[in-house]
Amino acid sequence: MFIRDEIQARTMDAAIYFTSTFGNGERVMRMLQSELVNKGYTVTMEKLKRGTSARAADVLIFSSPTHAGSPVGKMKRFLASMPEQSGRYALATTYGESLPKTLDIMDDLLSGKGMQKVADMAVPVKGIRDQSLEAQAAGMVRDFAEKIDIACRSSF
Ligand SMILES: Cc1cc2nc3c(=O)[nH]c(=O)nc-3n(C[C@H](O)[C@H](O)[C@H](O)COP(=O)(O)O)c2cc1C
Repeated sequence: MFIRDEIQARTMDAAIYFTSTFGNGERVMRMLQSELVNKGYTVTMEKLKRGTSARAADVLIFSSPTHAGSPVGKMKRFLASMPEQSGRYALATTYGESLPKTLDIMDDLLSGKGMQKVADMAVPVKGIRDQSLEAQAAGMVRDFAEKIDIACRSSF
């Protein structure tokens, strides 16, 4: 078997780290988790707490709400404290108004750490607890999961 075939056959592993005050971001990450599980991934989800550290995985996924045009402080501190390492990451945010700079700020905090960004996603929400979120976000989450999967299966 070629190495590439082995990569395509093996179970992939994703680790999601998120913050979510009102639950929108958590709901979006649960949707992502089920998309990836359907693609055969093992997926862990962890809400950031003091002392959380990222484990090794085929892809690390970071999700923060947008507060005042930025990721929340807990996520900024977590990303800034990530050690230098190789590997893939993907970024997500939910936001209420115009498309924010949240993803760029998250990306800047990871720059220079040696990791490779494979996908990002900014999901608009209506209000604090958006009843139609799952219906609205389904296509975006599917595309996001697809990009992550392609990157995990095509690069070494
Ligand atoms: C304190 C606070 C500040 C916010 N600031 C912004 C903002 O600057 N821009 C924006 O688009 N949405 C803003 N929002 C809306 C949130 O980004 C949106 O409701 C998000 O989905 C919340 O995620 P969560 O439910 O996971 O906590 C803000 C919400 C709160 C509670």
